[in-house]
Amino acid sequence: MTLPNKVETQEGVVASVALSPASFARFARFITMELGIKMPESKMTMVQSRLLRRVRDLRLKSVDHYGDYFFDASHTEEREHFINAITTNKTDFFREPEHFDYLCGVVLPAASHPGRRFKAWSAGCSSGEEPYTLAMLLAECASRRPGFDFAILGTDVSSKVLTHARNGVYQESQILPVPPELRRKYLLRSRNDAERLARVVPELRKKVSFHPLNFMDDDYGIRDTFDVVFFRNVMIYFDRGTQEAVIHKICRNLAPGGYLFAGHSESLASLDVPLRPIKTSIYRKPL
Ligand SMILES: C[S@@+](CC[C@H](N)C(=O)[O-])C[C@H]1O[C@@H](n2cnc3c(N)ncnc32)[C@H](O)[C@@H]1O
Repeated sequence: MTLPNKVETQEGVVASVALSPASFARFARFITMELGIKMPESKMTMVQSRLLRRVRDLRLKSVDHYGDYFFDASHTEEREHFINAITTNKTDFFREPEHFDYLCGVVLPAASHPGRRFKAWSAGCSSGEEPYTLAMLLAECASRRPGFDFAILGTDVSSKVLTHARNGVYQESQILPVPPELRRKYLLRSRNDAERLARVVPELRKKVSFHPLNFMDDDYGIRDTFDVVFFRNVMIYFDRGTQEAVIHKICRNLAPGGYLFAGHSESLASLDVPLRPIKTSIYRKPL
């Protein structure tokens, strides 16, 4: 990506986009320490383009000035804006659909006994598409098996995506991967056609709770034990040591015999973690 060196702010002030190597190094250290996300120099353009919005909103002169503002101890409230700006939140409904086929074809038939509350955790849930995909499939399972109940937890470090997820409102183009019969049942089109928005139905929204959680924290403060954890497309951003430490912490809340789903491009093969490989990117905690 090529960025212009100067941009117009709302007031017509010219802000300099270029981030100095020293400022980048300071941001990179912070991002890796606080979020576990690797920040090689090749990410410099990405970091400066993501921070530009804050430079404009705060009416600062440059991304380097934003660095001075951000690291000033009196601006602790900026941390939340920074995390919202810097995290990569790409997600989709029914992303990597083989995982959902495995869930419905193998995991649920063995787990969906009447009277059982099935618990799923979308760890790094972004704007909610992943936990709501799970909710639709578990609601379908519940409609076929009276007495089967479920609950879903979605967690993320970004407050912005959690707000979006709690609202459960998506563009019509975003709901296209949802099979039409599930769309009809679980998504409500906006009455205003021009808006082209759809909202997850309240019955499904109340099955999913969203909470802030940073994988770098020592204690996740979660008391539940989950049957499945979807930890997808998050650890790709972490180095090996961080991946291992985070998976150990996640496994504290995974039931014996429970499954962990990683992203298709993520492998736990070289990690020393208490999980057995079942299929590509699907792992199970021994009973
Ligand atoms: C690329 S999205 C993946 C969303 C979803 N799991 C999927 O596969 O579609 C990665 C999410 O991980 C979150 N994340 C990154 N670092 C994190 C951390 N240290 N703690 C918690 N969440 C983090 C980001 O905010 C982002 O929403």
